[in-house]
Amino acid sequence: MIYQPTLDAALQPSAQMTPLAASFAWIYPMSAAAVPLPPLELMNRVGAPDAANFLYVCDQWAQVAGRQLKANTRILDIGAGCGKPARAFLHHPYVVEYVGLDIDPDLVNWSNAYLRPASSKRFLFAWLNVQSDTYAPQGAVRAEDAEFPVQPGNFNFVVAASLFTHLTEAAAANYLKQARRACSADAQLLASIHIEPVGGTASGTTNRADYTRDHFVRLAAGAGWVLAALLGELAGQEALLFSAA
Ligand SMILES: C[S@@+](CC[C@H](N)C(=O)[O-])C[C@H]1O[C@@H](n2cnc3c(N)ncnc32)[C@H](O)[C@@H]1O
Repeated sequence: MIYQPTLDAALQPSAQMTPLAASFAWIYPMSAAAVPLPPLELMNRVGAPDAANFLYVCDQWAQVAGRQLKANTRILDIGAGCGKPARAFLHHPYVVEYVGLDIDPDLVNWSNAYLRPASSKRFLFAWLNVQSDTYAPQGAVRAEDAEFPVQPGNFNFVVAASLFTHLTEAAAANYLKQARRACSADAQLLASIHIEPVGGTASGTTNRADYTRDHFVRLAAGAGWVLAALLGELAGQEALLFSAA
């Protein structure tokens, strides 16, 4: 049974359905039994200049995250975009449930249109009406005050692929807390960050935010996550794996 606030947040952006969010990259014909690629404009919105880069980053996350999964994995993907990490988990035998959150209605609508049916409805994408100067200037709630519309304690693996690279420090601290609240005691969190702050331990804007590794680990500790492993470079960012404290 789907948690009602998640379902509500998944349905809300359908009122803003656009032709773009219903389309796909038609220059790459796909089997009727496979998920097509998103239109180039949506790939661009999640930082991929072209299909090759989109699939390269997807592949890197599939390998790095995929090896961490255990039987009965319930994934919460924060800043899920148009499913670049999600498509890596779509047919992973351990993934029983997946909820992706994003603030861009087109990305949420596209993912629900194409990835949800292909997952036999195990995957669901929900909208956060949250403000970001870069991604959602009109959003209603500040990221530092956002609450995730997900069932507390339900998830055991959190994905944050190039999300904290777009969150200022107060927002990052809140998102780490929200993620911990969503998770069970045996959960893990895999995040990628930029690690070159300008003149201190953290810097930047929603366009690009950077943290030193140590500072991000401190922020995570404040939210109930302990560093489990430094996984090194992942598609041009730094990957850190945390366990619930
Ligand atoms: C660089 S893209 C990465 C998307 C996806 N994780 C991927 O790997 O393709 C950053 C994503 O984070 C989303 N985002 C930005 N700020 C956010 C926020 N405050 N809350 C949730 N999602 C956010 C954007 O809409 C965008 O989809």
